[in-house]
Amino acid sequence: MLTCRPINNVDSFVKYYWSGDTPKLLQKLSIEAGQNTVTIIGAGAAGFALAVDLKNHGVSVLVYSHSNHLRHANEVISKGQLTARGKVQGVAIPWITADMAEAVAFSKIIILTVPSTGHHTVLHELRKFSLHQHTVIAVPGNLFSLIADIQIGCVLETNLSPYSCRMEGEQLIVMGKKHLISIAALQQDLDPMVQSTVQNLFSVQLKWCSSVIEVCLLNVNGVFHPLMMLMNAGRIESTAGNFFLYRDGLTRSVANAMRALDQVRIEIGEAFGLQMKSALEVSNECYGHSFTDLVELAQNSGPHNKLKAPSDLENRNISEDVPHLLVCWHSLAEKLGIDASPIKAVIILVEMATGVNYFEAGRDLRQLHLDKVSRDELIRKFSPSQRT
Ligand SMILES: NC(=O)c1ccc[n+]([C@@H]2O[C@H](COP(=O)([O-])OP(=O)(O)OC[C@H]3O[C@@H](n4cnc5c(N)ncnc54)[C@H](OP(=O)(O)O)[C@@H]3O)[C@@H](O)[C@H]2O)c1
Repeated sequence: MLTCRPINNVDSFVKYYWSGDTPKLLQKLSIEAGQNTVTIIGAGAAGFALAVDLKNHGVSVLVYSHSNHLRHANEVISKGQLTARGKVQGVAIPWITADMAEAVAFSKIIILTVPSTGHHTVLHELRKFSLHQHTVIAVPGNLFSLIADIQIGCVLETNLSPYSCRMEGEQLIVMGKKHLISIAALQQDLDPMVQSTVQNLFSVQLKWCSSVIEVCLLNVNGVFHPLMMLMNAGRIESTAGNFFLYRDGLTRSVANAMRALDQVRIEIGEAFGLQMKSALEVSNECYGHSFTDLVELAQNSGPHNKLKAPSDLENRNISEDVPHLLVCWHSLAEKLGIDASPIKAVIILVEMATGVNYFEAGRDLRQLHLDKVSRDELIRKFSPSQRT
């Protein structure tokens, strides 16, 4: 097994990992590890959970953290190790770098675990390197594949993160691990070898979808999060989030509103010829549950019913899911001629509450490079039966 140089003090550890002096060492580590390497871009709870899970399965991992986003990486570095508890367990001394050249050189497989609000920052860094032989998997993608305006050998994206997790200092708490997540490649006719290599990396089952649009529609966080935040905004602000977001916040009327929004998501999928499941069914499939009602899920689902509400509205349940899911679904619906009023209503109310112009900032067809595509072309491009 590979081990890192002993850590004598924090300064040398930081220098060792952050100074950019280490390409030779990393190259050596990478060669010793053979093909069994993965680079993870994104040093947050989801990235570290994946890092520990991969390490537990014998994969050598390098975690990249952008130099302006070192919050969790610094915690782990200052303690010299990462301890994972819960559904993923283990103590690891992860290799961490803030140098993208090292990240790209370490492995031909890159898994992206920054929030989609960080995709452009990461693309700005990745643009400097040749990635023709790399496979990049965005977890989750929120249509990263369509905004990635650089040449990459193979781009894939998932609908969700395999883990429900959070960082507490250098401790990683993994509260839930899904049974199944959905994935698709931007490229058609993905080599089955790539498919099986990718499946072997994930310790959850991957459901292969027909297109990245289908995968984006299966990120049901867009159905759950913004409405729960919006319809509980007063309670969030008056208690600083001191309640359980799902158990206390997903009540009957919130569930009714979610179903109306979900119906639009379903109609978008059906316009592409997809067999759409409700958000409840997608969640059941992910976690192996059999709830028959959203309120029942909120009350009884282990991975959901103990989640505390965020302390304010400035949270990715809004800042990621509104611009990168709801705005995207809304612009798809508009192009397809589907009435998207329930989605539009949520975006407008969120804009009124936060003062942020999400319609302007969000992943609409223009950002996805699909604004010049006609309705019929759009359907042909992403329908399983008509793909050209
Ligand atoms: N954690 C979960 O339970 C969970 C569940 C479902 C889905 N997900 C999804 O998985 C993704 C990652 O989740 P996470 O909990 O690991 O997120 P996170 O901790 O908030 O962020 C992951 C890493 O990305 C960095 N980052 C944030 N904004 C960035 C930017 N603009 N440019 C470059 N780096 C940036 C963060 O640094 P700083 O924090 O220092 O800014 C952190 O190192 C998100 O899309 C999230 O929605 C997570």
